[in-house]
Amino acid sequence: MRKRLGIISLFIILFIAFITIWNYSYYQGQEEAYIPIENDRPIPIIPSETGVFQRSEYALDYTNMPVDENHQRSMKTYYDNRAFHGAPPSIPHEVTSERSMGENTCLKCHENGGYVDKFEAFAPVTPHPEMVNCRQCHVPQKTQTLFKGTNFKRGTIPTVGTNNALAGSPPVIPHQLQLRENCLACHAGPSAPKEIRVTHPERVNCRQCHVPNNKVTEDIGTFIRKFEN
Ligand code: HEC
Ligand code: HEC
Ligand code: HEC
Ligand code: HEC
Repeated sequence: MRKRLGIISLFIILFIAFITIWNYSYYQGQEEAYIPIENDRPIPIIPSETGVFQRSEYALDYTNMPVDENHQRSMKTYYDNRAFHGAPPSIPHEVTSERSMGENTCLKCHENGGYVDKFEAFAPVTPHPEMVNCRQCHVPQKTQTLFKGTNFKRGTIPTVGTNNALAGSPPVIPHQLQLRENCLACHAGPSAPKEIRVTHPERVNCRQCHVPNNKVTEDIGTFIRKFEN
């Protein structure tokens, strides 16, 4: 009797072990293949292009992130909050402590973004988390109207969607790269304006295919030195 009990419990243990292992490998098999993008790659990065990889660890998350159509920005709402192309945007929400520099109070929402219930919007990711004195450059907007009329013109803003030579070829980068090294901060995720949200955040080496069009921002005409005799 005891021998039989022993054999039965041995089989029960084997059966439980089989179920556990089968269950484990079944769920492992269902997981999507995931190749992490590693920053400590053996290939050195060109120093002037390091900014491109600053957020590449999140690239695959961006690929899988759903787009919330009701809370996305457009180029119009983006530029409504900027005095001119490349100007620091004003802070469109209240700030808790009037005299704080910003730093972590701001970074807790702006370092990685995410939906903020109170403002019913996605926090835009800052391309420069290292410049901690946020309010040196970003100020809240106090009024919507001008104190006095001016003839200030906004200047031109590069167009979007017309920057490729052929249909399907990579568009040139129509803007300067100063303060804009960190491509994924502005071009990926739910806070990116819909016209410039990249369809391929996982191709992390952006500047491999996209080259800057310096002409738009640096064309000052032909410089001719005048010699006086
Ligand atoms: C509770 C989260 C939260 C905190 C804290 C916070 N923000 Fe924001 N911020 C947001 C959200 C959400 C938006 C988008 C608002 C919108 O689109 O209406 C935003 C928008 C902005 C914008 C406009 C960005 C653009 O592209 O137009 C600036 C600039 C900004 N915040 C700066 C700051 C600064 C500086 C601080 C610290 C003093 C700060 N924020 C603290 C959530 C936050
Ligand atoms: C030296 C000035 C300066 C400091 C300091 C600074 N910013 Fe900015 N910020 C800018 C400028 C200029 C832009 C516009 C960049 C552009 O359009 O090329 C900008 C853009 C942004 C944007 C919008 C990005 C987008 O989608 O276009 C956010 C969000 C932001 N800053 C948040 C912050 C936060 C948070 C801090 C503090 C950790 C901070 N900034 C510190 C100058 C600054
Ligand atoms: C501060 C935010 C910001 C950063 C950082 C940034 N961009 Fe942009 N990008 C924009 C905006 C805004 C536009 C639309 C044109 C404009 O207003 O300058 C744009 C336009 C583009 C376009 C043209 C898209 C089209 O459909 O015509 C390309 C390509 C591009 N950016 C590539 C890059 C690359 C590559 C990087 C990184 C080296 C980068 N951007 C960094 C904000 C940014
Ligand atoms: C292997 C080459 C390649 C790399 C790497 C690459 N792109 Fe592109 N990109 C393209 C091509 C090709 C298009 C045009 C796509 C089309 O017309 O369907 C494009 C289009 C775009 C556009 C216009 C909107 C869109 O998605 O069609 C933006 C913005 C952009 N890329 C930004 C980026 C950013 C930011 C990165 C880095 C995360 C990047 N690209 C990496 C080839 C590349």
